[in-house]
Amino acid sequence: MANRTYFIKTFGCQMNEHDSERAAGVLRTMGYTPAPDPESAGLVLFNTCAIRENADNKLYGQLSGLKPLKLADPSKKIVVGGCLAQKDQQLMAKKAPYIDVVYGTHNMGRLPDLLAKADSQSFPVIEILEHTEMFPSALPAARDVAHHAWVSISIGCDNKCTFCIVPSLRGPEKSRRIGDIAEEVRMLAADGVMEITLLGQNVNSYGRDLVRAGDVPDAFAEGKRNRTLFAELLHVVGEIDGIKRIRFTSPHPKDFTIDVLEAMRDIPAVCEQLHMPLQSGSDRILRAMRRSYRSARFLNLVAQAREIVPDVAISTDIIVGFPGETEEDFEDTMRVTEQAAFDSAFTFKYSKRPGTVAADLEEQVDQAVMDERFPRLSALTKRLSEESHARQLGKIQEVLIEGPSKTDATMMSGRTRHNRLVHLPAGPGIVPGTFHDVRITRTADHYLIGDVPALVS
Ligand code: 5AD
Ligand code: SF4
Repeated sequence: MANRTYFIKTFGCQMNEHDSERAAGVLRTMGYTPAPDPESAGLVLFNTCAIRENADNKLYGQLSGLKPLKLADPSKKIVVGGCLAQKDQQLMAKKAPYIDVVYGTHNMGRLPDLLAKADSQSFPVIEILEHTEMFPSALPAARDVAHHAWVSISIGCDNKCTFCIVPSLRGPEKSRRIGDIAEEVRMLAADGVMEITLLGQNVNSYGRDLVRAGDVPDAFAEGKRNRTLFAELLHVVGEIDGIKRIRFTSPHPKDFTIDVLEAMRDIPAVCEQLHMPLQSGSDRILRAMRRSYRSARFLNLVAQAREIVPDVAISTDIIVGFPGETEEDFEDTMRVTEQAAFDSAFTFKYSKRPGTVAADLEEQVDQAVMDERFPRLSALTKRLSEESHARQLGKIQEVLIEGPSKTDATMMSGRTRHNRLVHLPAGPGIVPGTFHDVRITRTADHYLIGDVPALVS
């Protein structure tokens, strides 16, 4: 009998995590069950990312690791989907001819047909579409964690950040209707989900396309509501029974509105956590990036967030070495980062992406200069994280348990409402999907350690 088991490896962002859960759902409806590793799986799927060049390199490296497996067992199916597949298309099959199926960002629902086609041909089946056929959210999902779900509210992006390859891979922004999103969240809640993360490339512009098409609830069409559609969406999902925690990613400082901060304050389920990408602290570089806010607006937003949403944790993304970045521009980034006092940050070296405006700029920053600046910024963001964590010492935090710690079998791990990772001793009742009030007893830059006072005393 054919080996109908699958193994999925996900690269890249949370949208890809979401898409992988859908791919798993599609495979399950075809009768596939999960396998623990690529060696034993009958089908290996790589869901790829193209955001930076090292994502490309990493993928091709790992893909070559599948070649001996395919040679040893030619019936094993190798499937590659997602952003890098969308970008590289034929090139991918040329580099790795042992692939069976290549699909892009718009056609995951076609997986069953593409697999059937692969059965009857000896060369890779490649199908890349330029437009989305159907929202991946309409596909069945097989979730990794029972109590958490990714919920996509829009796909694609209408922004034109000059460094970014995403708009060319995921197309223009297309929003789902509030009613459809609420329906999905209700079904998730009925299925035991307690925490959701709303996903969109720019959640603050959610629904603009719906407004343009007149496809909005009556109160909006008549202009009776003075909220943005995203704030309205938070209110709607915030009312759904059983959903205890709502997160969202990513907002855009250009479109961010105060009603979202008010929603974070007023809706109990919306977590006090904000991921707000800064990208650069230099106004000159922000302009060249076509990010149409300036550092003063950004810092003002951070101040308003801290004022309106008590104890909010703010994280960010920052790029070092965008073309034309001078030492002075970089120091502006350091200064704004320090002033914003981010609770955590993802920092990246600029990576030239084919087809983007920035890739054609003349003043590319030397690798040596990037290598010198990057650790300075990392040291700063590490210190800010440590300071933010140190402020948690002795506090009681609500932790939702995710599972056993990955490094210590005697510990369990979970997350606070601020999305901080907490390790605590395993004990009776400390099981995945349960909430506990945990006292923070030790801190590091990436995690907190605590115990449950009720169990200790
Ligand atoms: N080079 C480096 N970092 C990038 N990002 C997006 N494109 C690039 C690029 N070309 C970063 C941005 C974004 C995050 C998801 O990845 O900071 O917010
Ligand atoms: Fe996500 Fe962008 Fe990577 Fe695609 S290219 S997986 S949208 S980060």
